[in-house]
Amino acid sequence: MISSVSLSQDGDILICEDDQGQVMRFHALWLRDNASDPATRSPQNGQRLITISDIPDTIAMRTVHLDDGLVKIRFNDRDDFISYEEAWLMHHCYDRSDAMIADLRMPPDVMTWDEHLAKGMDNAVMPEAKFADLKTNNHILFSWLEGLNRFGVAKVTDGPIKSGALMDVAGLFGYVRETNYGKWFEVRTEVNPVNLAYTGLGLQAHTDNPYRDPVPTMQILYCLENSAEGGDSIVVDGFRCAQRLHAEDPEGFDVMRRYCARFAYEGSSDVALHARRPMIECTPDGELLTIRFNNRSTAPLTDIPFSDMPAYYRAYRRFAAMVDDPAMQVAFKLEPGECFIVDNTRVLHARRGYSGEGSRWLQGCYPDKDGLRSTLAAMAKQRAVS
Ligand code: FE2
Repeated sequence: MISSVSLSQDGDILICEDDQGQVMRFHALWLRDNASDPATRSPQNGQRLITISDIPDTIAMRTVHLDDGLVKIRFNDRDDFISYEEAWLMHHCYDRSDAMIADLRMPPDVMTWDEHLAKGMDNAVMPEAKFADLKTNNHILFSWLEGLNRFGVAKVTDGPIKSGALMDVAGLFGYVRETNYGKWFEVRTEVNPVNLAYTGLGLQAHTDNPYRDPVPTMQILYCLENSAEGGDSIVVDGFRCAQRLHAEDPEGFDVMRRYCARFAYEGSSDVALHARRPMIECTPDGELLTIRFNNRSTAPLTDIPFSDMPAYYRAYRRFAAMVDDPAMQVAFKLEPGECFIVDNTRVLHARRGYSGEGSRWLQGCYPDKDGLRSTLAAMAKQRAVS
């Protein structure tokens, strides 16, 4: 806990020291902006009531003291004290000596995987639950959502075998984004398909619709019929591939992250979708954000300098080889009433080809990931207080 507090000479920095002698500094402007008193943040919904311009640029602290777990500060724009809980300050400390900008790092709560996910090795196992249990048991739903968030993939079994049942799966955690393919779409063999997905051809592992901006963030593929020979589903962790590429070819990783690829889809006369984004996208501080990989919709790459194009293609081919490597893949055949869900910003999915014998009918839709993350965080909050 914090054992002493003091101010810099001009009052623009708060200096806190914990009982281990660790120092945490906070700027006056940051503290004033993040005050939680009722004049700064709504007590009802926690939303900020002031704008950054409402804080004078001469903001400084006049006095500070510790009072029973609270750090109480009097700023020069107000006569009263504003209180900050010690635990809140420690949790939100940004005065760290460790490097904030890394070459590559994983988002928190993410665990990457390879073929071992299917075998439950390395503490990684494909999250799977029965539809009825997810509907009726909050503990099962919570741990399944946690698994989906951690691994970017999950399965549901024993669901209803009826058209549109995938919307009930989406309703477990979020909301579906409607696109030109509809609220949901049919994945079955068509005579004149607008998309190669609607044929019996095998499809290389890919993320869906990289030609959209923003891309669909999750996908559900729900099986209604699957008696055809073949047609197995395959999933690949794109974040694990990015980690491998970073380890094996740092220069290649860098060009794939640094330069934009282009993606396009004009499969029917009323659609012309184009996007210009990297195949491996990171946040400015090096955290993996989005993988876009789709051989069918990659347009001519024209945003990579001439001198870096060979390195780019070398890395692109290396990444594709990883995606095709059975050691990176988990394969399974969906039964009617089963579905799988992928984080489409991370996990690639593929399909083995299937023959004309029997039938294969899947339905797909695109729920948004913010709904999953919000539902999961709200459930975690409720579990912490109960
Ligand atoms: Fe797909």
